[in-house]
Amino acid sequence: MNVQWYPGHMTKAKRQMQEDIKLIDLIIELVDSRVPLASRNPDIDELGRNKARLILLNKSDLGDERQNEAWKAYFQAKGFYVVKVDSRSGAGMKAIQAAIQEACKEKTERDRRRGIKNRPIRAMVVGIPNVGKSTFINTFAGRACAKTGNKPGVTKGKQWIRLNKNVELLDTPGILWPKFEDEEVGMRLAYIGSIKDDILNLEELSLTLIDFLREKYAGALEKRYQIAEEGTAVQVLEAIARSRGCLKKGEELDYAKASLILFDDFRSGKIGRITLEWVPQEEK
Ligand code: G4P
Repeated sequence: MNVQWYPGHMTKAKRQMQEDIKLIDLIIELVDSRVPLASRNPDIDELGRNKARLILLNKSDLGDERQNEAWKAYFQAKGFYVVKVDSRSGAGMKAIQAAIQEACKEKTERDRRRGIKNRPIRAMVVGIPNVGKSTFINTFAGRACAKTGNKPGVTKGKQWIRLNKNVELLDTPGILWPKFEDEEVGMRLAYIGSIKDDILNLEELSLTLIDFLREKYAGALEKRYQIAEEGTAVQVLEAIARSRGCLKKGEELDYAKASLILFDDFRSGKIGRITLEWVPQEEK
């Protein structure tokens, strides 16, 4: 990841999250819609026990719409409230308000029974690095929202963003690490650019990406680079290098450059809306 995690960091992050979670009613968990499982932290379900849960399938503009829908249904079936969002453009933001009210209706009802009126729902945003937490908070909260400042006794040292009279958001997101001990997860995070490219072998990674794309999104590479998709993955990378004029001195093809182009295009959605992780068949 762009953040280096060490055991000390992980313990600290977890402890911080445990403290913050005590202050809130609702966890808004961001996942990357292209890799909804790989971009989740394994501990969040345990940490978030007894809290209302809302999952945001962020970067839904980059995920394949059919898969976005399948993932939405997948998480809903597990009891989460789910909204597809694009934090960059703001798409999906309106639906979140309703989902928050819905996810917290038990709390609201409990308050009502106890005669507590107008106690706002408190929420916090959590997710692994690079899923879009800051972008989301900025877009969702908008500039119009005033920070409410410290609330003596209750939320010492914490800044809350008042979204409206019903909802307050902790202004700093909870950051947790991904399941990077799982090689497959590491690879998926590398594909989407959440692991520093300089420690990766992009050329090797590009060959597996080519194979995946040919299998699941046939024609996408052909369309983007005006090349034939047949042959080995190396031949396809070679075709991309030719089509984009990636040459070293002496007319030798520059595979590293072609891989970079492929990844830049993929990560920015230029090859199309592509989801790397599909809902497990048995759980559909
Ligand atoms: P973090 O706080 O969780 O670490 O993530 P952050 O908001 O910094 O977002 C990481 C990158 O993801 C940023 O791109 C951001 O613009 C992008 N991003 C966030 N949400 C969305 C989304 O819904 N759709 C798309 N397409 N991109 C999203 P960046 O390239 O690192 O920065 P920038 O060039 O956009 O400033």
